[in-house]
Amino acid sequence: MMKHNRPPRGLFITLEGGEGCGKSTQARLLGEYLRSQGHVTVETREPGGTPLAEKVRSVLLDRADEPVAPETEAFLVLAARRQHVTQVIEPALARGAIVLCDRFSDSTLAYQGYARGLNVPLLERLNRLATHAVTPHLTLLFDLPVATGLARRRSASETNRLDRESLRFHQKVRAGFLDLAKRHPARIKVIPSRASKETVARTVARIVAPILTRLHPADHQTATPRMTSRARQVRHALR
Ligand code: TMP
Repeated sequence: MMKHNRPPRGLFITLEGGEGCGKSTQARLLGEYLRSQGHVTVETREPGGTPLAEKVRSVLLDRADEPVAPETEAFLVLAARRQHVTQVIEPALARGAIVLCDRFSDSTLAYQGYARGLNVPLLERLNRLATHAVTPHLTLLFDLPVATGLARRRSASETNRLDRESLRFHQKVRAGFLDLAKRHPARIKVIPSRASKETVARTVARIVAPILTRLHPADHQTATPRMTSRARQVRHALR
């Protein structure tokens, strides 16, 4: 359980999906949109988000020749997550920020569980240990056919160790994410992501708008002088 005397005031939104699904671009666009509405955001990612956790990320994604056991992968991402939750996510939520996190616990279930074959209920328990049960209010799952995502990814950037896994592996990741969405329909929203980034961003904004009302009322008093009258209206409506 969380150590706060009262529940965190902020909002925790995670973005998930397979390789090349566009979630990092959408995290950036959503951050810009929320800030334009006067909200305070913290944009972060997993594995990573703190200096130590970023080092773990490099180890995890390094393309060295040594084979990496599925359990080793799981312990690495979980260690990075524990550090990230205590150092970044919990404090940001306690301050009332909207935390946008590019990947979180569902990635461990999809990659190390459904795709690598580790026991999913065991990983769920380990996730609870790593997060102290900090759970996203909303998870945006960007869904794309595997071949399309991999082609995007491989043409855009240097590939990492996991990008280079087989098509079958990435199909299991996708099926795993979709199964998680079926199991948690209130939290995980599936967003078909073949469309242009502008179209996908509009879908994201439509999904996110209603949950902004969950923010603690005090959090809407952090207006910046640069706030537009539209942003003030939105804040007023949220009170
Ligand atoms: P990305 O965030 O740039 O897509 O890359 C992160 C990679 O790490 C991606 O291939 C998925 C993988 N990963 C896991 O295997 N398990 C996890 O729990 C997380 C957060 C990421």
